[in-house]
Amino acid sequence: MVSKTRFWYPFILLMFLCAGAAMDTIRPGNHLNSSTTVVSVGEMFELGFFQPTDSEHYYVGIWYKNIKEDPVVWIANRDYPVTASAFFCISDDGNLEIKQGRIIYRVTDMTLPNANVSATLLDSGNLILRDENSSILWQSFDFPSHTYLPGMKLGYDTRIQSTWSYVSWKSSNDPSPGNFTLKLDSGPEKQIMIMNGDAIYWRSYRSWGDRDNFFEFPVETRLNMYNFSFVSESDTAYLTYNIYTNDTISRFTIDATGQLRQLLWLDNEWSMLNSQPMQPCEVYAYCGANSSCSNMSSPICSCLPGFKPSSVEFWNNGDFKEGCSRKNELQCGKNDGFHLLTKVILPQKHLTQEVQSFGDCRSSCLTNCSCSGFSYTDRNCSIWTGELINLQQLPVNNSSGTDFYLKLAATDLETKKESSSNMRRTVIVSVIVTMTVFTSAFCIWQVKVKRDKRKGQDLLSFEVTMSPSHTKKEQCKGRWQVEHEKEVEIPLFSFSSVSAATDNFSFSNKLGEGGFGPVYKGKLLKGDEVAVKRLSRQSGQGWDELKNEAMLIGKLQHKNLVKLLGCCIERDEKILI
Ligand SMILES: *[C@@H]1O[C@H](CO)[C@@H](O)[C@H](O)[C@H]1NC(C)=O
Ligand SMILES: *[C@@H]1O[C@H](CO)[C@@H](O)[C@H](O)[C@H]1NC(C)=O
Ligand SMILES: *[C@@H]1O[C@H](CO)[C@@H](O)[C@H](O)[C@H]1NC(C)=O
Ligand SMILES: *[C@@H]1O[C@H](CO)[C@@H](O)[C@H](O)[C@H]1NC(C)=O
Ligand SMILES: *[C@@H]1O[C@H](CO)[C@@H](O)[C@H](O)[C@H]1NC(C)=O
Ligand SMILES: *[C@@H]1O[C@H](CO)[C@@H](O)[C@H](O)[C@H]1NC(C)=O
Ligand SMILES: *[C@@H]1O[C@H](CO)[C@@H](O)[C@H](O)[C@H]1NC(C)=O
Ligand SMILES: *[C@@H]1O[C@H](CO)[C@@H](O)[C@H](O)[C@H]1NC(C)=O
Ligand SMILES: *[C@@H]1O[C@H](CO)[C@@H](O)[C@H](O)[C@H]1NC(C)=O
Ligand SMILES: *[C@@H]1O[C@H](CO)[C@@H](O)[C@H](O)[C@H]1NC(C)=O
Ligand SMILES: *[C@@H]1O[C@H](CO)[C@@H](O)[C@H](O)[C@H]1NC(C)=O
Ligand SMILES: *[C@@H]1O[C@H](CO)[C@@H](O)[C@H](O)[C@H]1NC(C)=O
Repeated sequence: MVSKTRFWYPFILLMFLCAGAAMDTIRPGNHLNSSTTVVSVGEMFELGFFQPTDSEHYYVGIWYKNIKEDPVVWIANRDYPVTASAFFCISDDGNLEIKQGRIIYRVTDMTLPNANVSATLLDSGNLILRDENSSILWQSFDFPSHTYLPGMKLGYDTRIQSTWSYVSWKSSNDPSPGNFTLKLDSGPEKQIMIMNGDAIYWRSYRSWGDRDNFFEFPVETRLNMYNFSFVSESDTAYLTYNIYTNDTISRFTIDATGQLRQLLWLDNEWSMLNSQPMQPCEVYAYCGANSSCSNMSSPICSCLPGFKPSSVEFWNNGDFKEGCSRKNELQCGKNDGFHLLTKVILPQKHLTQEVQSFGDCRSSCLTNCSCSGFSYTDRNCSIWTGELINLQQLPVNNSSGTDFYLKLAATDLETKKESSSNMRRTVIVSVIVTMTVFTSAFCIWQVKVKRDKRKGQDLLSFEVTMSPSHTKKEQCKGRWQVEHEKEVEIPLFSFSSVSAATDNFSFSNKLGEGGFGPVYKGKLLKGDEVAVKRLSRQSGQGWDELKNEAMLIGKLQHKNLVKLLGCCIERDEKILI
């Protein structure tokens, strides 16, 4: 909204009113110019004009007062850059405005009964406009830019026509709205999505329900640092969070390349706790429908067995969006069968139901014409219908991954039908081979971890007051990888001692169940109590994530956080203490 100026303040008045600028509040008649700012009471945030690196433009924004590296969290005029001669003020009618010569950009546009309003920058980073009775008329938290701060919302409220979504910058030097938007899906699944223009770029696997009330990113649920809450009513749904420790600085940003990053200010730099999508295979429908993605192979997309590229020409040119279609249509009945894919990350969108057996699950897919595949674990039968999106094939030596049964027409099933005893033998042999591979991988890894320590330590006699020491610094680079990492050494405990401390993981010691496995109370010989997180085998959590996480918790030796004493990795068990 750009409109002609209706009035112009005398220069003298400006000089006079700007005198007492080092405050947290702008009142009618006050102005900010390109070199004056307001600062929140606790000196957390600063509001004023800023100039992006290598840019001649000026913007009104909010940034961390004491952080120089990538500090901007909010921008008032993303679409309307101004010059150094602009002012930011409260207009006669009580609205926030940016004036440059005769041009006015209205940051807020409200009709107010009384123009006696004031704008205050809070320590949360929220700029609030209040009337004389201190009722909030407007707040910057309701108009997010690219940064999702504690206390902000991600979602929508249809009653007040509000959408809390986050739009990337065009580039790192250009805050104007970019291609990527972080938002909450308004469908029943309530997933978090990154849109690239109008197309889905990434969506969280997890949806927000009553039970799994945790964020997609696994790490912070175990850090016990973030308190996420999800509100869902008929007209409104949003995700919000706060941080238990009020001196911790953390935020989410959606950057110009479409990466959603979770950052924590630690040791004078932004540490990245998480970044999504982690790799191209996680980009929504990167390989199109009915294909599998594996970043270890080249090209990274391939059609599922029994499928062929929908457009061979596009496919061969590395454009996989068209996906794959069936070589032979399903017969919708007895002539169809299943092809087993092992070690996959399951496709998106499925329905899960409880069944008595594998056979029940198999037949419920077989008898349903629209079923295109199923997966079965512990009585949970997941059924996919229609297209299969984002199936990922993991390498054989990866310790995570699930079995997926792909429904195919009989003619597309493997022609060399082995006799069942042959089949059984093959299965047994491959199980043994796989187990050997894992066991040796684990052994190699354990040797690496243990280094001089010969065996896992005894948790029961561990001195809780000892804390892990920070050691060598290591930096990894790469778009899809964690950019900044410090290694810390963490003690490794024996499984038997962990088991003893938790009374054999007894139910009475169970404290709760997180998204990635149960948490137990453990008791040490000296009476100290510890929390023991046993990562579930289905969590899909690999060693790398566990290691990253353990290192992260190790780094975060904060008084209010649960301290990481160590971990235990033995056989299939991955445990954090
Ligand atoms: C902004 O206001 C301050 C305080 O009144 C003044 O010293 C400074 O010269 C002004 N800067 C510009 C660019 O007008
Ligand atoms: C504006 O409101 C403040 C209280 O928020 C009050 O102290 C002040 O006197 C009011 N000013 C006018 C001109 O009414
Ligand atoms: C502030 O409160 C007073 C007394 O309740 C009321 O008369 C007045 O209209 C209120 N002002 C605004 C702007 O709501
Ligand atoms: C954003 O979209 C435009 C138009 O589709 C494209 O030219 C540009 O490369 C995109 N930018 C990024 C960072 O993807
Ligand atoms: C977590 O956040 C919710 C909603 O803001 C709040 O009601 C609850 O008290 C918070 N929990 C803790 C432990 O701070
Ligand atoms: C943080 O919390 C402590 C105790 O609750 C309080 O004394 C302190 O003022 C708070 N700090 C900030 C910056 O809010
Ligand atoms: C593939 O993904 C794995 C796990 O996400 C990662 O460790 C590896 O570096 C990726 N490889 C490539 C070539 O991107
Ligand atoms: C993928 O397979 C499903 C189920 O067989 C089918 O409905 C869909 O049309 C296929 N997609 C493409 C792009 O051929
Ligand atoms: C097939 O399964 C889907 C998903 O479970 C269900 O919505 C549909 O009604 C089923 N169709 C038949 C014919 O059972
Ligand atoms: C089966 O589903 C239930 C409810 O959806 C869930 O609590 C449980 O963890 C699932 N079990 C497995 C092995 O996935
Ligand atoms: C898995 O195998 C591939 C190729 O055989 C190898 O490059 C990779 O390092 C192995 N990964 C692990 C974790 O052993
Ligand atoms: C196994 O696959 C998962 C999912 O892609 C990946 O995150 C993990 O790093 C892999 N683990 C190994 C040891 O390659």
